Formats: sequence, C-alpha cells, structure tokens
Amino acid sequence: MLEAEFVQSRGRSGPLGGRYPDLLSEANLDHIHVRRQGDTIVACCVARRATWLTGSERWQAAMIGFVHTLPAARGKGHAAALLEATVDALAAAGSDFVVLWSGLDGFYERLGWEAHDRGVFGSMTLAAVGTPAVLTIDSDRFETLRARSDSDRIVRDAAAYRALPLPVTAVGTLFASHGAHAAAALVGAAGDARYVYEAHGDDAALPALWRTITAGVTAVYVNESIGSPLHRWLARQVPIEFSGQQLAYWRMLSPRARRAAWRNWHIPYFDRI
Ligand SMILES: CC(C)(COP(=O)(O)OP(=O)(O)OC[C@H]1O[C@@H](n2cnc3c(N)ncnc32)[C@H](O)[C@@H]1OP(=O)(O)O)[C@@H](O)C(=O)NCCC(=O)NCCS
Repeated sequence: MLEAEFVQSRGRSGPLGGRYPDLLSEANLDHIHVRRQGDTIVACCVARRATWLTGSERWQAAMIGFVHTLPAARGKGHAAALLEATVDALAAAGSDFVVLWSGLDGFYERLGWEAHDRGVFGSMTLAAVGTPAVLTIDSDRFETLRARSDSDRIVRDAAAYRALPLPVTAVGTLFASHGAHAAAALVGAAGDARYVYEAHGDDAALPALWRTITAGVTAVYVNESIGSPLHRWLARQVPIEFSGQQLAYWRMLSPRARRAAWRNWHIPYFDRI
C-alpha cells in the first residue's frame, strides 16, 4: 500500500523497506500503527523515536511519516483517529515532542499540529564538468565534524547512515579541505543529480566542498536550515535559487518542550521519514 502511494505513483523506484531499514522492519513493529476494518488495514502511519540534542539538553523526539488511508476508505476520519492514537502512544512512551513533514494544505493544522519550518530548499542546474565523486559513507569521520559544528542534532548511529531518502539511490559523505580547514557534506545521488542534506566544518573549506559535490553533476538540490553556514555561503557565492519550506508540523507534548525555544529547531532532511 505504501509503495503504491509513495514510490510507484510518484515515479520513484526501490523497495521502501530497503530505504528505511530502521523504520519498516520487524524491530520497529511497535511503531508501525495501523487501523483495521475487519481483516483489512484501512490506514497506517509509522513513527520513529530519536534523541534530539540542543546544547547540553536531551529530548526524546518522535517523527511520524507514511500516513496513508486506502483510497476507498478516505474521508471517514481514519487518518485523524490513527494520528491521535499514535501521538497518545508516543506521549505515553515519554516523547517530548512529535514532528512530521507534509505537503498537505491545512490537514494537520486542523488536527492541532503547529506549522513551523526553518528549512530552505535550493536548486540549480549545471553543465557537468569533471568526474562525480564516489559516494561512500565514513560516518565516524563525518560525526567528528558534525559534533564540532552542530550543537543541535539528532543522535545517529552507523545504521542511521544507511537510510536512502526518496528519490536517491546512494548516499555518501564527502570531505574537502583548504589548508588546515576541513568541511564535510552528507549527499545523496539520483542519476546525475545530487541532494545535499547537510554540511559541517569550517567556512573556509566550503568552496572546495562545493566543488567536490558538484563535480560531474547536472543538478544540485540543497536542503538546509535558514542561515546555516552553507546556506549563507551559497546565497552569496553561487547562482542558486532558494525558497523557504513549509513542510514541518509540530506537537509539543511535555511541559519542558512547550517552554523550549523549539521554533529555532530544525531537524535535518536526512533524519526525517
Ligand atoms: C491524507 C490522507 C492520509 C487522509 O486520510 P483520511 O483517512 O481520508 O483522512 P480523514 O478522514 O481523517 O480526514 C479527511 C480530511 O483530510 C482532508 N484531506 C484529504 N486529502 C487532502 C489533501 N490532499 N490536502 C488537504 N487535505 C486533505 C479532507 O479534506 C478531510 O478534511 P475534512 O474532514 O475537514 O473534510 C489520505 O487522503 C491519503 O492517504 N492520501 C495519500 C497519501 C498522503 O498524501 N499522505 C500524507 C502524506 S504526509
């Protein structure tokens, strides 16, 4: 059901289970929520729990994705009821907040979610020059730079780096340096296009990093947080069009989260469902 909706009907490929190995797996069955009518599953959604760090504070984060109702069963409140039950279960399990990303207009706000997004999306086309960098994951080296430059972050283990967000077919960490300065990016590839999920490190190494990312590719899409070092550098130096994103919807569950400066928070694209 999910593959028909989120993969095939959107012209994408590859089994979803392979793209989100920690999500659509036996180990995560407790977080795959369904609503039944008789023997038929009419609606589903999937949750992921994660740790979110802001400075020295730790938060129990939860994300929801793959919200879906069978076409024949739509408009009867199934998705609304399932979302409420899922949020209640996440609250009971100690989640401080829940966040999801959706292009639906008005649906989540009517259900009590607050729209707030610090994401920016940039895209540009290029003439392919040079040879594309080979994409492999060096999560240890990447995490070292990430921990140095990002005080707010989702905790990731090595398995988290195996995710393949739609529509990419490979993900890798790219590194570049300029003198003693170093920077790294997490990048996905779909054909000759590259998706930049985040960049860390020293500003002085960003030009070299950008050259590494763009070598031999015909299109680059950048998912960043507004005002991040890469966003600021690109906006100044590169003819790339950025637009603000309006995809994130939040529910603060714990009193501590409600009091937090959560409107400054941005969950990187790579960690999402
Ligand atoms: C969106 C979806 C999950 C709603 O499921 P559902 O069980 O019909 O939802 P409910 O019956 O609880 O709620 C229906 C409401 O959703 C609204 N809705 C449905 N599709 C919508 C859309 N594309 N944009 C905005 N609102 C939409 C309906 O207008 C209705 O609102 P109303 O009750 O005020 O009239 C279902 O249409 C679906 O599976 N769509 C395809 C997959 C998808 O887009 N998933 C969301 C990805 S984040």
